[in-house]
Amino acid sequence: MSSSPTRKMVVTSALPYANGDIHLGHLVEYLQTDFWVRFQKMRGNRCLYVCADDTHGTPIMVRARKEGITPEELIARSYGQHTRDFTGFEIAFDNYYSTNSPENKAFSTQIFASMEKSGAVSALKVPQLYCERDTMFLPDRFVKGTCPKCGAPNQYGDSCDACGQTYPAEELKDAHCAMCGQAPVTRESEHLYFELEPFHDFLKELIPQLTATDVANKLLEWFNEPLRGWCISRDAPYFGFEIPGHPQKFFYVWVDAPIGYLASLKNWCEKNGESFEAWWQSDETERYHFIGKDIVRFHCLFWPAMLHAADFKLPTQVFVHGFLTVNGEKMSKSKGTFIKAETYLKFLKAQDLRFYYACKLNGTTDDLDLNLDDFMGRVNSDLVGKITNLASRGAQMLHKNLEGRMGRMDAEGEAIWKAALARSETIAACYEARDFAKVMVEVRNLADAANQYFDSQAPWKLVKTDPEAARQVLTSILNIFRALNIYLSPILPSYSAKVAALFGEEPYIWADLEKRIEDRAVAKYEYLATRIEKQAIDQMIEAGKESLPEPPKPAKPAVEPVKETIDYDTFAKADLRVATVLSAEAVEGSDKLIRVMLDIGEAKPRQVFAGIRKAYDPATLVGRQVVMVANLAPRKMRFGISEGMILAAGNPDGSLFVVTPDTGAQSGATVR
Ligand code: 2FM
Ligand code: ZN
Repeated sequence: MSSSPTRKMVVTSALPYANGDIHLGHLVEYLQTDFWVRFQKMRGNRCLYVCADDTHGTPIMVRARKEGITPEELIARSYGQHTRDFTGFEIAFDNYYSTNSPENKAFSTQIFASMEKSGAVSALKVPQLYCERDTMFLPDRFVKGTCPKCGAPNQYGDSCDACGQTYPAEELKDAHCAMCGQAPVTRESEHLYFELEPFHDFLKELIPQLTATDVANKLLEWFNEPLRGWCISRDAPYFGFEIPGHPQKFFYVWVDAPIGYLASLKNWCEKNGESFEAWWQSDETERYHFIGKDIVRFHCLFWPAMLHAADFKLPTQVFVHGFLTVNGEKMSKSKGTFIKAETYLKFLKAQDLRFYYACKLNGTTDDLDLNLDDFMGRVNSDLVGKITNLASRGAQMLHKNLEGRMGRMDAEGEAIWKAALARSETIAACYEARDFAKVMVEVRNLADAANQYFDSQAPWKLVKTDPEAARQVLTSILNIFRALNIYLSPILPSYSAKVAALFGEEPYIWADLEKRIEDRAVAKYEYLATRIEKQAIDQMIEAGKESLPEPPKPAKPAVEPVKETIDYDTFAKADLRVATVLSAEAVEGSDKLIRVMLDIGEAKPRQVFAGIRKAYDPATLVGRQVVMVANLAPRKMRFGISEGMILAAGNPDGSLFVVTPDTGAQSGATVR
């Protein structure tokens, strides 16, 4: 990291897909990046925050088709919605662009040419699933079927949510196109692969410098074997850039997405008369990516290899954060906790979420839990009660009784103010380390000291006996508050701008900490923050439930075709038994599985992991009779051994219904 007083930094957040709404999960990243960038700017560094919509790929093409519009119309609409939401949350990009841009096409062409020239691109014929009705190759997420490993129905073409195993889409049983329901065929197609093995040593050395130790160590596990090549082409029809020299082949969206960082920077440079080379290609500048932990391999393996092949400067650091949970659980559309940015802003203030996220973000890959009661509590007690009250009581008292004029600080107050200033470099170091939670602890401690001083001086009483002494106390309080506000400015920018207006000042920079404000008029106090009412949170959750999209209707609600005939002996090999559910519990770490203990008349109950979590509350299964395949070979799963399988009917829409015998059947009875 450069130690020069004015650093030059390019900072990015991951580019959001143009086919989805911005939600509170996305904001974990954009907000922390925004805090960091604003802090850097306040410190006097030249810091550019660039981002863009990630516009290419099959899902965007398919969604546009479905809506009867062009992909360009779709991405233009998303652009409007995304920028509206970012503005609403006070996220200040220096440039927000699009990957569907001429700059991105030019960089993609240039980088790919270098990759080819380096000899690391090879062509390979590979079989792939193709839908004859939709006339397109199907990406893994567009194929559904039965897991080839555990038999769970309705799984995607790349991995099974029930057993956690991965497999090639061609191995999926009863595969069908997720759009039209038709069984795909296998077709061969030639694809381009970017070989990573030539970059083995380069990446192995780079990764520990690039990212946090825990993230790096996970990545390095792959380096015990040769690195596998990465398929970088897609067949037409595809919304993206056609690959030069390879007609009807397009860059996979993940190729031109990170290049979009460069394109957005370049576009900013063009608009501002600055040089792209001076920003990206210089040893004097620093380059930082903020990303979620799900896209580490794209940013720490493929991306540096691409940049290296094309002689572009590498990222200085990749900062990886965790996911958002709401009330301790994955965001859920049915519970209304899958909260869109737009929905949140209808009921609550952006600054409240900024404040809360800052309290919880500590620069690690830990998940961030938005506990809605805690959220309300912290905003009401800390932001409003402890911090803002200093200003509201101080300024209002000054106006009511002392002509709205500040005097000088008293000795005790000045000492507290100086103690607050003495924390400046510690707080700056916390910001630098992205440990915003520690910044908040520091600020809260200082606010506590200020409140104790305020209460011990009781200026509301003092004003009656010694108004000038009261003026001194209030002057101290307002100076302390002003320092706290400067510390909070990267997190609460519009709040801070109002504070600057209160004191007749310009928006703050870090160096403003050194100034004191005395013997001057204070503007009329305007509300800086107000309490959150529980009702607003409840209404937001309700509204979240209402804005659920219609569940997709299968284009062809056909039941699966009956399979080839088998003889009786083959059927008789399946030992089907009536079983009674002794206990059932959700499996931690899986949103599909329930662990059931089954009595089939044996000495020991059987443990089965059933992929029926989305259809059943485990408690409702206890005591119920089901039918199980008792002689299925035991299967080792991520969570333990599964000693059989319980039967469930699966509708074409994926809904599940456990099979139960009529009353009177005993546990262990044979089912024929
Ligand atoms: O995971 C995502 O949402 C991607 N759209 C992120 C792309 S980040 C970058 F590489 F462009
Ligand atoms: Zn299809």
